[in-house]
Amino acid sequence: MFNHIAPRYDFLNHLLSFGIDKIWRKRLIRGLLKKNPEKVIDVATGTADLAIALVKKSDTVYVDGVDIAEAMLTVGNQKLIKKKLDNRVKLRLASAENLPFSDYQYDACMVAFGVRNFENPLVGLTEIFRVLKLGGTINVLEFTTPKFFLVKFVYQFYFTKVLPFIGRKVSGHSTAYSYLPNSVERFKERNEFIDLLKQAGFEHASFKLQSFGIAAIYRAQKV
Ligand SMILES: C[S@@+](CC[C@H](N)C(=O)[O-])C[C@H]1O[C@@H](n2cnc3c(N)ncnc32)[C@H](O)[C@@H]1O
Repeated sequence: MFNHIAPRYDFLNHLLSFGIDKIWRKRLIRGLLKKNPEKVIDVATGTADLAIALVKKSDTVYVDGVDIAEAMLTVGNQKLIKKKLDNRVKLRLASAENLPFSDYQYDACMVAFGVRNFENPLVGLTEIFRVLKLGGTINVLEFTTPKFFLVKFVYQFYFTKVLPFIGRKVSGHSTAYSYLPNSVERFKERNEFIDLLKQAGFEHASFKLQSFGIAAIYRAQKV
């Protein structure tokens, strides 16, 4: 599915989120940089938006990005070459559930709107835990379902009606943007996701809701 929508992904992403995702990404990066990481892994990197935002914020950081959709990586690589950042971000076709890296490699991991799509989130998180150094952090940005009824009503209408309609028209894919609300609904969020992080081995797990609870940034550490 992501291979199919790759050429339109960035455009639709920012359009459908009214650019709010950029604010969330900045917050995730600000928190991640607090520990001055040098080597970061961006899992489910897609078109490398987050990786690019990170290396633009820090001159010393290097990023390995992995994703299972080749077409998303192709778009990502084109952006990296255009921005002359291809020496600081390397993209690789690989699954979160089977990372092609040895243990204790990375100071930090980031995953934006990716965990929800993993075939087996616990296996993916355990793999991320494995490749992190001791003291390394995982930083996850993901949608959440808001609890407050008015926000929930607007959110659900937008997510289940408006977004699939525009997504279908622009991407030309009949189900990609209907898949989004379904996958968000199925995703184990908030404290359930904290439990999953703990099961994978992480400690000091916490989350911060964003924009009236329509997204959350989760952080945890390998100690
Ligand atoms: C919604 S996109 C997010 C991309 C990017 N992180 C961003 O913030 O724009 C989800 C991405 O997760 C990737 N993905 C899904 N399952 C994956 C897995 N098991 N391992 C690696 N990437 C995966 C998809 O191919 C897709 O590019």
